[in-house]
Formats: sequence, C-alpha cells, structure tokens
Amino acid sequence: MKELIVKTSGKTYTIYIESGIFNQLPDIFQEKYSGKKLAVVTDNNVFNIYGNTFIEKLQQKGFFVIPIIFEAGEKNKNLTTLTEIYDALAEHAFTRSDIVVALGGGVTGDMAGLAAATFLRGMGYIQIPTTLLAMVDSSIGGKVAVDLPQGKNLVGSFYQPDAVYTDPMLLETLDDRCFSDGMAELVKHSFIKDIELYKQLVSDDVYDRKSVSKNLDEYIFTSCNIKRIVVEEDEKDNGIRQLLNFGHTIGHAIERVQNYSGLSHGEAISIGMVLITRLTEGMGLTEKGEAEKITAALKKFSLPTKWPDLNIPDVIKAISLDKKNRSGRITLSYIERIGQGRLIETDLKELEDKIHGILKD
Ligand code: GLY
Repeated sequence: MKELIVKTSGKTYTIYIESGIFNQLPDIFQEKYSGKKLAVVTDNNVFNIYGNTFIEKLQQKGFFVIPIIFEAGEKNKNLTTLTEIYDALAEHAFTRSDIVVALGGGVTGDMAGLAAATFLRGMGYIQIPTTLLAMVDSSIGGKVAVDLPQGKNLVGSFYQPDAVYTDPMLLETLDDRCFSDGMAELVKHSFIKDIELYKQLVSDDVYDRKSVSKNLDEYIFTSCNIKRIVVEEDEKDNGIRQLLNFGHTIGHAIERVQNYSGLSHGEAISIGMVLITRLTEGMGLTEKGEAEKITAALKKFSLPTKWPDLNIPDVIKAISLDKKNRSGRITLSYIERIGQGRLIETDLKELEDKIHGILKD
C-alpha cells in the first residue's frame, strides 16, 4: 500500500492508496474506529453501486451506521442538502468523536466535509473518493464548501480529513468522460510541478484509458504528492496553493457562463490551461511552444482544447466575479515551461483585455 502523510497546521493525516483497499475498509475501520458512529454521506448513484454493500458490511462489523443519501449533481451541493445532513446527525445524536464518511466525488466530499467541519464545531471526517478528480484533487487539502444561488463554493471552510482511502479500482465503473475530467487535474499537476510525470503521460506507452490504467496507482500517488507538497506549504490558499488554479480563472468563467451544465470542470480547465498558456507565451512569460505541447497532452486524454461557442463579454464578466479577485487584482497561475508553474499578480482589467484580444483572433 502507498501512503502519503499530509502535515497541516490543524491536522496530520494519511492518504492510503491501493487498488482493492475499498473491500478491506470494514476491517480497517473496525481496527481504527471501533465504537464510533458513522454517517456515510453519498449520492444515489454511488449508493447503488458501492454504498449499500459498504454500509451493510460496516454494520456486520458492529458499527452504528446511518446512510445520508442525496440526489447526485452539483445542483444539490447546497444549503438544503447540508441541512438534511445536520438533521440526520442531530437526530441520531452524533458527537464530536463520531465520523462523517464521504463516499463519492467532489460534490460529496465538499458537502460532507463542510457538515463535519461545522456540526458541533467539528467532528471526525473520512474521505473515500470514487472519482479520479476527487482522488487527485478535492479529497486532499481540506477545501469544503456548498454553493449559493449567487455562485459556487461561496460558503465553506478549510477542514482537513482524518484520513483518505483511495482505491483506483473504484474507477472501473466511471464513464470515460468522468475519467477524462479527472485526468485534466492529474495532467495539470504535471504541468505546474512535475516534468517527469508529464513525460510519462505523453510517452508512447500511454495512448488510451486502458494504457493509463496500467500505472494509474502510480500516477495518482505522484499527483497526490504534488498536491500534498503545495497544501503543506500554503494550507489557506494565500500563496503557492494558487498554482493549482492553473487554467481555472478561465475554466471557472466558462463553467459559470454555461450555468454549470455545459462542459465539465476538467473540460473547462483544459481549455483554460491552453488559452492562458497561449496568452503568457505571447507576453513572453512562457517559453514558446509550450501551449502546443500542453494542447497535445490534453487531447491525448480526450479533453477539449478549443474555445467553445460562448459570448466573449459574458466570459469576461464571469472572470471579474472570480472570488480570487482582490480589489481589481488577481493572482494568475501560469507555466514558465512544463513542470515550472509560476504566479503573477496582474490587473484584472489588463488580463480581461488580453483574453478578449486572444479570443477575437
Ligand atoms: N483545487 C484547488 C485547491 O485545492 O486549492
């Protein structure tokens, strides 16, 4: 089993990565968390595939378990569902030493994590990510939140989990589009911090999902390790953690304009990474030719790289609503060359003009 220890100011925790670990979890839980109540938060899809059996096995091990199931989809990552989680925890008299278990993708982890962070001012919280995106990104680093009608992730906190159990075998049930969605974040980690990972991913040995899957445990481990390093240095997202936003300023704007029902997050940031790199190449901040290389890498994982049919002023307006916008200035994550992410503080208006310029061409 591969293990990564994440050390943050509030908590030190382990990410366990192993194909097949999911089936061992009832035993592992019995050994580590015996006597605690468990609230398994999951969506209806994951409940039907994995949750039902998982909960039964935990009950057979003597655990008191409540399932908290919500309808899958970002549209349910809201205060109403959060209240339902609180209600269930209160109804069953959960205490601070009991545990919320997030079994699912990013939406589940974000919402279960926020419930765990705030119910009784903080209780146990374990992540079992079931999507590639959650495995390499959202299950690590403690960002938890729900959306408001006014925007995504507007109510949240930083709350690190007590442990993350990552089983790449769970990805076998993921559809190809959802798999590519996660690959966007995994490849992004190589772009900002790891040329060796990039070289492996673009090598001839990797040509489709099946061939990626041969070394997926390794890629997930390397990718999680990159995020671990960044989060340990800047847990609260005031500095180097913003490197993880490579492609996100534009990506988030695309998602917002499409009302979160068009391109997936990974697809939107894929386009964002290409566009921002074209732009920084033009500004002389990025070595020439890198935009072409990252385009080729992203295409390899069936990710879109071309600008979608969107109204440019709408996109520019959405960029200005980015919550990273601080009094008209924004910290932009870009690459000097592949493997070397950099941050630059820039005037939002200037950035918008440049994006406008590049999109018109
Ligand atoms: N997904 C970006 C971060 O965790 O900071």
